[in-house]
Amino acid sequence: MSGASGRGRTDDGVEMAIWLVEGVRPYGGRPVDLLLRDGVVAEVGRGLSAPSGAHRLDAGGLVALPGLVDLHTHLREPGREDAETVETGSRAAALGGYTAVHAMANTEPVADTAGVVEQVWRLGREAGLVDVRPVGAVTVGLAGVRLAELGAMADSAARVRVFSDDGHCVSDPALMRRALEYVKAFDGVVAQHAEEPRLTERAQMNEGVIAARLGLTGWPAAAEEAVIARDVLLAGHVGSRLHVCHVSTAGSVEILRWAKAKGFRVTAEVTPHHLLLTDELAATYDPVYKVNPPLRTAEDVAALRAGLADGTIDAIATDHAPHALEDKQSEWAAARPGMLGLETALSVAVRAMVETGLLDWRGLAERMAAAPARIGGLAGHGRAVAEGEPASLVLLDPDARWSVDPAASASRSRNTPYAGRELPARVVATFLAGEPTGE
Ligand code: DOR
Ligand code: ZN
Repeated sequence: MSGASGRGRTDDGVEMAIWLVEGVRPYGGRPVDLLLRDGVVAEVGRGLSAPSGAHRLDAGGLVALPGLVDLHTHLREPGREDAETVETGSRAAALGGYTAVHAMANTEPVADTAGVVEQVWRLGREAGLVDVRPVGAVTVGLAGVRLAELGAMADSAARVRVFSDDGHCVSDPALMRRALEYVKAFDGVVAQHAEEPRLTERAQMNEGVIAARLGLTGWPAAAEEAVIARDVLLAGHVGSRLHVCHVSTAGSVEILRWAKAKGFRVTAEVTPHHLLLTDELAATYDPVYKVNPPLRTAEDVAALRAGLADGTIDAIATDHAPHALEDKQSEWAAARPGMLGLETALSVAVRAMVETGLLDWRGLAERMAAAPARIGGLAGHGRAVAEGEPASLVLLDPDARWSVDPAASASRSRNTPYAGRELPARVVATFLAGEPTGE
C-alpha cells in the first residue's frame, strides 16, 4: 500500500514513514539494505533504491538484531511515579534497544486485578515507545495467601500471560501448585522469585566469606536453590510452565539443567549484573550494589555464563529496578535492593558473553529477543531480521565504547551500578514496527 510518496499506511489507515536502512549487518553477517515499510521488513537486498521521500539511514558498520524483549522490568507506575513512569521506563527501554518489556506487578496498588493491568497496558500504548506487557500478580497484594484473579487478568485487554509476585517468593507450595495449574488453561507461565523467606530474614548480601568479613547478614545460595528445586518438581508434576526469575547461583544452574533433562517445562533468566558483577563490590558499602538476589561469587558468575551459553538459562532479563534517591542513598541496610538495567543491558551482555566468545550475535539475539518473546507469548517480537518479518529491530555499533553517565539516563532514577564505567557496543537506533523509537 505504500506509494511513490515515500509513505506507507497501517491497517487502520495511519500514515507511516518508509525507511531505507543501508549497509547494515544482520546478526553481524554481510552488509545488506533493509526497506522498512508498513511495519515490516518489506525488502532485504544489496543496492536497494529508496522510494521517493523515504528516510535513509546510513548503517554502515552497524549490526542489526531483532528488537530486544525484557521479561523483567519494574516501571513503578502506578504508585511510585517519582522513581519511574511507564513513559520514562519505556524511553529507557527504547534507548537500550528494547521493543517490548514485561512490567512487573509490584506497583502500588499491586497489579493483581484486571483494572490495574489494563491501566498499565493503556499507559504503555499511550507512550508508544515499546510494547508494554503487564505482568499480573500471582497472589492478592503479593501477600502469598490467596490467588489473584489470574483468569480475569488473562481475559482483560492486557491479555496477561506472565504472572509473578516478584520481589516476593510464592513460598507456600500448595499455592504455587494451584497457580501453576490455573495458568495452564491459557498457556500462561508463573515466573517465580525464588527466595525461601525463612532463610533470608534480615539478609543484606550473598552469604560467604565477604559477608563474614563485612559483618553483614548473609543470603545463602540454598534459599534460592531450595525453591527452584521444589518448583521444577511441581511444574513437572502438573505439566505447567514455570519460569525462574534472576537465577544467581551455580547450584541453581545445575538444578535447571537436571529439570530440562527431565523434560519439565521450565525456563529461566539471568540478569546482566549477575553475569558481570560479584559480591566483592559490597565491600564498598555503596548501596548501588545492593540487589535481590544479591551479587554472588566469581564462581557463580562463571556458572551463569556457561549456563546461558549452553541454553540451560534461556534469556537475559534486566530486572530494571529504579529507586528514588531517598530509598537508595542511605546506609547499606536501609537501602532498597535493585539496579537500573534497560539502557546498559546490551552492552553488559556483550562484555560478559560476546567479548568472551561464549555467544555470537545470533546467540545473543536468541537470549535477549527470541527466547523472551516466546516465554512471554509475544508473537510479533523476537522474530528474525528477514523479509516479511516485523520491522522491530535494534541497530548497534559493535565497535563503540561509551562511558555510563547516570545523569544522561532516560530513567527517572539514577541507581546504575556502572556509573563511570566504559562499556562496549552502543545502540544507535531502535525501530518498533517500522517507527524509530530510540531517541
Ligand atoms: O533487587 C530487586 N529489586 N529485586 C527484586 O526482586 C525486586 C526489585 C524491586 O522491585 O526493586
Ligand atoms: Zn525478583
